[in-house]
Amino acid sequence: RQVALPRNKSLPPMVFHYIPWFGSAAYYGEDPYKFFFECRDKYGDVFSFVMMGRTLTVALGPKGNNLSLGGKTSQVRAEDAYTHLTTPVFGKGVVYDCPNDMLMQQKKFIKSGLTTEALQSYPPLITSECEEFFSHDLKLSKSNPTVKVDLLKTMSELIICTAARTLQGKEVRQAINGKFAQYYEDLDGGFTPLNFLFPNLPLPSYRRRDKAQKAMSDFYMKIIEERKKGESDHEHDMISSLQGSVYKDGVPLTDRDISHIMIALLMAGQHTSSATSSWALLHLADRPDILEALYQEQVKHFGKADGTFSPMTYEAVKDLPLMDSVIRETLRMHAPIHSIYRKVISDIPVPPSLAAPAENSSYVIPTGHFILAAPGVSQMDPLIWQNSKTWTPERWLEEKGVGQTAVNTYTKSEQVDYGFGAVSKGTESPYQPFGAGRHRCVGEQFAYTQLSTIIAYIVRHFTMKLEVPSFPETNYRTMIVLPKNPYVSFTLRKQEV
Ligand code: HEM
Repeated sequence: RQVALPRNKSLPPMVFHYIPWFGSAAYYGEDPYKFFFECRDKYGDVFSFVMMGRTLTVALGPKGNNLSLGGKTSQVRAEDAYTHLTTPVFGKGVVYDCPNDMLMQQKKFIKSGLTTEALQSYPPLITSECEEFFSHDLKLSKSNPTVKVDLLKTMSELIICTAARTLQGKEVRQAINGKFAQYYEDLDGGFTPLNFLFPNLPLPSYRRRDKAQKAMSDFYMKIIEERKKGESDHEHDMISSLQGSVYKDGVPLTDRDISHIMIALLMAGQHTSSATSSWALLHLADRPDILEALYQEQVKHFGKADGTFSPMTYEAVKDLPLMDSVIRETLRMHAPIHSIYRKVISDIPVPPSLAAPAENSSYVIPTGHFILAAPGVSQMDPLIWQNSKTWTPERWLEEKGVGQTAVNTYTKSEQVDYGFGAVSKGTESPYQPFGAGRHRCVGEQFAYTQLSTIIAYIVRHFTMKLEVPSFPETNYRTMIVLPKNPYVSFTLRKQEV
């Protein structure tokens, strides 16, 4: 549309592109961080680009993130940016297929299912899944002490099994090697950048996605029905917690809503946690010194006189400084979500400090653009972090000067502790792997519990080695930032052989 701007206001600078509709799609899609850093050098923190007929305005840095993540609902809307991708996968009536106020209440219902009591019950279940997986599926044993694996594939299997055993519930875990796996695969095949760019294409993968959505939703409905009839004994999982949730206006969540929320949680946690655990373990395979230090941390906290370990507990997991730093640093360098989008629904003035200096003018991000936040840019900004491109878990162990450079400081006092280690305070933090503001992740504590327990299990039992000539590069062509060719080997520790 023709944008009418107030006097002395102008549109953000546009990234130069040759092909009109296609725009900078290839440049951005191949390596978004290269694109962001190069454009920042040319245009400043705020600039627009064209991608497949859409105009996106990128707002970088902690202040830029704040424009979208801290934006008012009268200015920016997540549902308008995501619903075409997520509704065919999650199903109707939840997350981005309902008004924002309903999503906020759904997130509260989810939070009530992730109580300390629920989280406390998870480490033993996750550990028993790990035992089964490494001895049975990977067949690691005294007579077969080394196994080489595709780490991403391995971690994806372990993440789905452990999420199923804990948050998703017993019935999902029992079905995971059967029909559930096929539904999941087909749904996941409909959750790609292609689906994001083109919501409806006459392709088989789109038809498979729609069929799988219905089948998966019916599968959860059946679990709920059987539980109501008292035909299944189950633990205190997310389904049982969501049952009985009632919106502020007195309307209860329907069984169908619960089914769709369960699908959303499955999809939200699966790739993010598979990617994070893979990146963390790749770094550990690359840094035997940190692997050994993590092992010693396990010995210190859980080691028994006979050389075995006492079981992991939720409380103990929370009190492992190096483990916490390893996960935190991995998320700094490999935030699974590189771009967070919102649709602009009323013009957003850009504070002069963010606009590139131009005489008498400042920018407005106009209605109709998408605004893009890329927290990963500030998380790897050399102006904020020392050795920003080097994986350095130790930086989080220092009392202050977490990211000290000559120009800027980011200390632990700028973080807030929610009982699971400090996390970024708000929408203007330079560290936001879980997002910020009203759409911030509700799965963070679950993710930390799952990741710490799995990594601890691995560190206790195995050493690791990279089985590729150099540290894996990054694949940005998927929805989530993934490692390319992530081959490693696991070897049983000496005392276990
Ligand atoms: C939102 C990251 C794990 C459920 C988000 C957002 C980010 C994120 C960046 C904000 C998206 C936006 O603003 O548009 C991560 C990372 C994870 C992780 C890095 C693991 C390492 C999980 C898990 C669950 C989950 C395990 C479920 C148990 C959600 C939900 C939202 C969310 C429900 C809210 C969406 C909204 O309000 O729009 N996550 N997530 N996430 N995440 Fe996670």
